[in-house]
Amino acid sequence: MKPVSLTRFLIEEQRDKGQIPPDLRLLIEVVARACKAISLAVGKGALGGVLGNAGSTNVQGEAQKKLDVLSNEILLDANEWGGHLAALASEEMDDPHLIPHRYPKGNYLLVFDPLDGSSNIDVNISVGTIFSVLRCPDGVTEPNAGHFLQPGTEQVAAGYTVYGPSTLLVLTLGDGVHQFTLDRELGSFVLTQRDLRIPEDTSEFAINMSNQRHWETPVQRYVQEMVAGREGPRGRDFNMRWVASMVADVHRIMTRGGIFMYPLDAKTVEQGGKLRLMYEANPMSLLVEQAGGAASTGRQRILEVTPNALHQRVPVIMGSRHEVELVASYHAEAAR
Ligand code: AHG
Ligand code: MN
Ligand code: MN
Repeated sequence: MKPVSLTRFLIEEQRDKGQIPPDLRLLIEVVARACKAISLAVGKGALGGVLGNAGSTNVQGEAQKKLDVLSNEILLDANEWGGHLAALASEEMDDPHLIPHRYPKGNYLLVFDPLDGSSNIDVNISVGTIFSVLRCPDGVTEPNAGHFLQPGTEQVAAGYTVYGPSTLLVLTLGDGVHQFTLDRELGSFVLTQRDLRIPEDTSEFAINMSNQRHWETPVQRYVQEMVAGREGPRGRDFNMRWVASMVADVHRIMTRGGIFMYPLDAKTVEQGGKLRLMYEANPMSLLVEQAGGAASTGRQRILEVTPNALHQRVPVIMGSRHEVELVASYHAEAAR
């Protein structure tokens, strides 16, 4: 069979199912093109002079890497002139970026983590981009932060890229999850897997164990039972992986199952968790659910959380459905 490019995939989905209006297709293609540019910059490494800190901090108080800033600029430059967006919001910008008046405005809002896992850049480990597409509310021409505060169930599309041994794009438009691999010679994303499915059961977990003493009781219990292995209540051995790039950890789960957790802990309880609802948790939750998995804060389905701030953080427990349900049941038990 002939390779199917991202462009062809989007056009044929529209033809067959009539779900992808032309401006949404343009949006996805523009984001994919920007991600190719980010992939190139990441791939140059030290030769591109792009490693190391930018010397600035973002609104979350985190030191920005040069590639955080560069990736953010690439996504802004690519997306502001096409007429498909009303505004953009990014983990690396304090406030939403409005479309300059010289360009036409569109119906969508784009939200992104331009470079996820950026602490891994300088050690040559996979990083990625995460994005989410929302509708701009009807009649709004100058969207403010409030217009972005829609629950994850409202997302029109979501995706991530992984800049790893190969560059991948994993995408959902609300009808399954599909994987594209960047053909570096052609410079285009080619469909390499349709309908990714996350196995419902797993024996692999991902969590930063150094935070163990700060976790709440239900997560303590869940992890202890896995670590106890064959001799413990679960009656089988579990394996652990932690890349510390959410994109890479979640992509592994997309591929072979597993559970990814950045739960609430005593260190982050005041800010509501570590990972960001709009830039990380919501897009990844939509993808995971679309692949048959589940995503929870422990107490609530992530996609049903009503955001109260653009940079809001949230506990994240996602992946193989039966494991996520088990962790949620431990939270419910502890609450009773
Ligand atoms: P970002 O690089 O966008 O700030 O995100 C980093 C996140 C996420 O990718 C990862 O799962 C987690 O932070 C890693 O946390 P630890 O440093 O606690 O391992
Ligand atoms: Mn991130
Ligand atoms: Mn980031």
